[in-house]
Amino acid sequence: MMEPSRLKTNDGLVRLNSNENAYGPSTRVVDAIKSSIGGAHRYPRGEYDSLTERIASTHNVKAEQVLLGCGSTEILRMAAFAFLGAGKQLIQASPTFEAMERYARASDSGVKSVRLTPAFSHDLGGMLAQSTASTTLVYVCNPNNPTASLTPRKDLETFIGKLHGDTVVIIDEAYHHYAGESGAYASFIDHPIDDERVIVARTFSKVYGLAGLRLGYAVAAPKVVQRMRKFATEDNINAVVSQAAMAALNDSDGLNKSIERNMDDRQEFFNAALARMLKPIDSHANFVMMNVLHPATGVIQLFRERNILIGRPFPPLDTYIRVSLGLPDEMQAFWRAWDGLPYSKDLMSH
Ligand SMILES: Cc1ncc(COP(=O)(O)O)c(C=O)c1O
Repeated sequence: MMEPSRLKTNDGLVRLNSNENAYGPSTRVVDAIKSSIGGAHRYPRGEYDSLTERIASTHNVKAEQVLLGCGSTEILRMAAFAFLGAGKQLIQASPTFEAMERYARASDSGVKSVRLTPAFSHDLGGMLAQSTASTTLVYVCNPNNPTASLTPRKDLETFIGKLHGDTVVIIDEAYHHYAGESGAYASFIDHPIDDERVIVARTFSKVYGLAGLRLGYAVAAPKVVQRMRKFATEDNINAVVSQAAMAALNDSDGLNKSIERNMDDRQEFFNAALARMLKPIDSHANFVMMNVLHPATGVIQLFRERNILIGRPFPPLDTYIRVSLGLPDEMQAFWRAWDGLPYSKDLMSH
């Protein structure tokens, strides 16, 4: 089957900055998008229920356990407004994906950020030490953005068991499909624990290549779903993405291809990095973070001047850059630009 052609933006920028899927959705999904356009004038009511059912059956859970969102960021927002608020506290890692903190602050909640361990996993002991009776939500991003690193499953289970009884834990599995067979990782949807305080967030933006259409979901206990649903935008999924998601869930070949391609591209990136004496953090995602031993803000700017966008600064990792995996020619452009930077020579002699 022919790959659908990707719309090249005419600004000439290489976008390695948002952990998107550079290849976009599979051909079958593109076909579903095209044929769904005819329903664009209708509210997506029927689609909401059928997609909820489809996701529930994919995960072997009840439909009451599934909550759809306009991207998984809407799931994070619903969790913030359902479980946080003035006098309450969110605990998260630092650095991690920033949306949860933003929504926590919008709900007037306090936020405690606990630095990742030297191995870039969540410092669960440190997070537990910060937890009090007012800690009503903990955010765990696994694999973590921006570091692409894992927090071991068994440590997470012990951690959840020790948290205060009223503390809800949201596990953001946006990069689940890229975590692979690592023994340290197991999804809390595929391998649930018997604990109604656990919410898992997933997205169609990454492995399925649908970031531009906005769809995410949560799997949680029915009463947790009900509580979060109150904060959902009315008709928060659109008529196009619901058809696209159905096709994506029925296209296991497309899914496997997307996963395998990312593994190959990630290996290529590591080969190129190691050849340049760079030592990226082991990646379990579709992006890579690495210490370039120079302030990230300056490096980002130098790439920008060469029309390449890489990830934003992620303090306190001030000398690390985050690079999303792009198409092969985009990665070549990245390494050409890298080789033209003064840093590349310094690192070679390190
Ligand atoms: C960890 C994490 N969660 C959620 C999101 C947002 O995903 P969505 O497009 O589903 O809102 C991202 C996007 O980069 C992410 O890195």
